[in-house]
Amino acid sequence: MTPGQGPAASTAADRAPVPEAAWVYLLRCPDGSLYCGWTNDLARRLKAHQSGKGGAKYTKSHGTAAVRLTYAERCADKSAALKREAAVKKLQKVEKEALAARWLADNAVTLRMATPDDAADVADLYNWYVTHGVQTFQYAPSTAEEYRQNIAEVLTVAPFLVARAADGRLLGFACAHPWHSRAAYAWDVETTVYCAPDAVGQGIGKRLYTALLALLRQQGYRNAYALVTGGNKPSDALHKALGFTRFGVEKRTGYKFGQWLDLTYWGLQLVPGSGEPAPVRKRLTDEEIRTVLENA
Ligand SMILES: CC(C)(COP(=O)(O)OP(=O)(O)OC[C@H]1O[C@@H](n2cnc3c(N)ncnc32)[C@H](O)[C@@H]1OP(=O)(O)O)[C@@H](O)C(=O)NCCC(=O)NCCS
Repeated sequence: MTPGQGPAASTAADRAPVPEAAWVYLLRCPDGSLYCGWTNDLARRLKAHQSGKGGAKYTKSHGTAAVRLTYAERCADKSAALKREAAVKKLQKVEKEALAARWLADNAVTLRMATPDDAADVADLYNWYVTHGVQTFQYAPSTAEEYRQNIAEVLTVAPFLVARAADGRLLGFACAHPWHSRAAYAWDVETTVYCAPDAVGQGIGKRLYTALLALLRQQGYRNAYALVTGGNKPSDALHKALGFTRFGVEKRTGYKFGQWLDLTYWGLQLVPGSGEPAPVRKRLTDEEIRTVLENA
């Protein structure tokens, strides 16, 4: 950037192409039966099955909200997914059960506090949204070194959580930063959550965020605020589901990938009460952290 000038606008052409997505998946219904399907948007399809709106007749009559993802396989494109779906449908029940058991074992999710050694994976995950999406207004990717410092700094005052699969993949992260720098804001945080593009819509964001909020409450923070960029339905839905209320919108405030975008403010009172607050506890004990994460 030239001193005194802003960055060049990020045009639609700057957006990295989103790789074609196609999935074959199995859903477990409450009666133990398995439903097999294919989709190009796993999160949206799962939501359709669970809401009963636009899902499938089978899942609608076999549990709707209670059906659970039990296998997902990414395929090269729609035609590969259709072939694979036909092959999976032909498998014996015992073979489908074996696929599901292996997938569930590989995808068992562990939540833990981040360390600076998580920085490279966290930066990779976040940078996917920097280069492909408008969920963040950032134009230029962050470096692993920036995240190494960021994680270390956050951990001095607030949680920085990561969710990893049994095979080590980073599935998501959630953290909190001071909301403003002046002393009177010492009880307020800005919260952030990101899931890997292949891990959205499977409950991981909600688990991370629920644990984050529980830890912040224990530290004595009073208010959490989140900034959600225009039209981010999954994020709006997550904040609403966790009790945040929408209290403002900056209209057409950010320009990225050829669009003017709104910024929505969400807020949550973490601890009720209006009296003098105790100082925030900068660090929780290992036991307090373990208890929250084991129950998340
Ligand atoms: C936003 C995000 C963190 C949500 O996490 P997630 O794991 O995908 O969401 P979950 O499966 O935990 O679902 C949480 C809630 O949001 C709802 N939701 C999730 N995806 C949705 C979608 N595509 N449309 C509508 N609602 C959706 C769920 O129904 C659920 O509500 P419920 O508990 O009342 O059923 C995740 O989608 C993500 O990382 N998106 C890209 C990055 C991003 O936008 N981060 C937030 C920046 S502010």
